[in-house]
Amino acid sequence: MSTNDPFRLSFETVVSASPMLGHKLENRSQIRNAQNLELLESWQESSTVPLRSAAQQDAFVVAPLDILVSRQDGRAQFHIIELNGTGIGGVSNMPEHVVSAVAASLRRVAKSCWEADTVLLLPVSGKECDASPRLNKLMHEKLIFAEAMQAGMADAGGSADIVTLTGLLSGIQTYRDGASTVVIGYIKELMDACTVSDDGGVYLAGRRVVGAVNDRFCLNLIGKFKGEIDLDQFTPINGTYLAGGDKGAAYSLLDEYLAHRSSDSFPDRVHHAHATTRSELISTVLQWMAMGRRPVIKPHGTGIGHGIEFFLDPHESTAAVISRIDESLLVTEEYYAADGGAFPYTVCEFIDATVIDQQDHRLDGHKYELRIVVYRDGLSLKACPTIAKVANQCFDAANAGRDNLINNITNSSVTKQTDGTEYMLPLCSEQTLEVLGITPAEMAELCRVATEYTLHAIDEIPRMERRMDSSCDADWSEIPESVQLRMTSLKAA
Ligand SMILES: Nc1ncnc2c1ncn2[C@@H]1O[C@H](COP(=O)(O)OP(=O)(O)O)[C@@H](O)[C@H]1O
Ligand SMILES: [Mg+2]
Repeated sequence: MSTNDPFRLSFETVVSASPMLGHKLENRSQIRNAQNLELLESWQESSTVPLRSAAQQDAFVVAPLDILVSRQDGRAQFHIIELNGTGIGGVSNMPEHVVSAVAASLRRVAKSCWEADTVLLLPVSGKECDASPRLNKLMHEKLIFAEAMQAGMADAGGSADIVTLTGLLSGIQTYRDGASTVVIGYIKELMDACTVSDDGGVYLAGRRVVGAVNDRFCLNLIGKFKGEIDLDQFTPINGTYLAGGDKGAAYSLLDEYLAHRSSDSFPDRVHHAHATTRSELISTVLQWMAMGRRPVIKPHGTGIGHGIEFFLDPHESTAAVISRIDESLLVTEEYYAADGGAFPYTVCEFIDATVIDQQDHRLDGHKYELRIVVYRDGLSLKACPTIAKVANQCFDAANAGRDNLINNITNSSVTKQTDGTEYMLPLCSEQTLEVLGITPAEMAELCRVATEYTLHAIDEIPRMERRMDSSCDADWSEIPESVQLRMTSLKAA
């Protein structure tokens, strides 16, 4: 396509005009432009890993890992707390060539799951709370994905459109005969609008849906229809969607990885448990507290810190603990249409992460976490450190709780009614590393573990469903032999 094409708008123009087009979108170019590409290249040189086979190319696009940092003997200790997935927000924090690789992956998977006259979904987070529906301020990033998916469908089948769920349902947009379609919509609304036929096909407004690009949405859709969806007819993108949407699944993979591939920058094991009912959740939390642990509870298939609760006070009354657990169940029930709460919950240990420790810094004393995006580039997995996400309140140990422990950018931007960029720092940056007290060598090690861990998650895709049922807190001896073998080959490579 000609670069002089007058009908091709720039990304920044869409952002600038957004208050007139719909709602104000967020400009992340300042963060993106501050990423040091040489630093990124040096980290990628030592952390890129090859896929095991060409077949894995269609199984994975991107995993944006969230990482807390603690200190041990003066060194950084990293704790991966989430794998996430293709619902990634913050694509525009990343350098151009990284976004190009992610878009190329999407184009490829869209092509591979194409069938004539079908639909690919692009579910977007937002509008969780019916009383005050949040509009997604990074919608323009989704348009990059939508165009990549459209191009992939067109590669396979000639012609593809992009429409919105709102447009389809109101009749102001329609499917076109002979064309396939990318449908963009809010997660909850798409979840309501999808149906499943007797033969296991997913349908939206009369057309068959061949896949969806949002791990959390895929997990919740498959969960909602309880085994009715035929996964030969519906492709969850990523294939790692279970670990992307369920923290417990991500932790068991991490535990296996670390048990075999120890790193001085990571803990040896990741203690966690799954709770499938309210009573199991309550008893696990109370038991952990009685053992002197500080449990954190995390619902299944949720985001933005929704339903996460921290139990840090060993003297908190049982009634208060139960009341906070019930609050979490209620929030997830309402925001995610999860009957009785978003089970199974994961119970994990509180990580007393470090704060920014620089007196003259505007965010001095705030907790933070790192975002490392692992993505497929050709036949390789690469890591790209993108931002440090900083809590919107200064940490106060005497009043530790959701207000000063949640580092989620969307949460901060909604709570403080400001741009998310107020609470983020570019991570491919020597200056940021200095502020955080992390050395470039420590970051290189984090990138190495990030790619190898993600490869382990991709390797486990064929066994992912079964893993959900297995209990946690497993001993190393309980890690399946097949997994041990693959880890050994990784070490040798
Ligand atoms: N184990 C933990 N210890 C301390 N803080 C945590 C822990 N797990 C999560 N958090 C905090 O809670 C926030 C949300 O947790 P996360 O697992 O990333 O779920 P979500 O999908 O809701 O973003 C994180 O940004 C972090 O600030
Ligand atoms: Mg998170």
